[in-house]
Amino acid sequence: MTTVLVLNGPNLSRLGSREPDVYGSQDLEALRAVLTSDAGKEATIELRQTDDEGQMIGWMHEAVDSGTPVILNPAAFTHYSYGLRDAAALVTKAGIPLIEVHISNPHARETFRHTSVISGIATGVIAGFGFDSYRLALRAIIGLN
Ligand code: DQA
Repeated sequence: MTTVLVLNGPNLSRLGSREPDVYGSQDLEALRAVLTSDAGKEATIELRQTDDEGQMIGWMHEAVDSGTPVILNPAAFTHYSYGLRDAAALVTKAGIPLIEVHISNPHARETFRHTSVISGIATGVIAGFGFDSYRLALRAIIGLN
């Protein structure tokens, strides 16, 4: 069975209580449950969260070495982390899908959120659909396999 890494960046551990008007009232465990249910027998969901840029970069290296597709919500790293961009580029340059997702639509928010340093190297980008952004990305990844 294919494993899919679902990697979440800084402050996403606070989902459920963090700005519920923007991010909804469900937490990461609820996200894990819905993705695991959607994946059924087609994929194993490995969902992780970190506030640490170095750890996230290490997970990109792990995806390259294991050939594992990635659903990535880079959170605030989206807007400034060239280190994460370079690491994520290793994934897609190896021919492994990496889909950038956002719960909110960053383009409808503050100006600093309009720039993503990740999108240019991602396989695709899905934003603005709440947790359904991840579910759509999972469908895309399963379809790409
Ligand atoms: C986010 C959008 C980012 O701008 C923000 O820094 C986040 C979450 C989203 O999922 O909508 O932490 O990636």
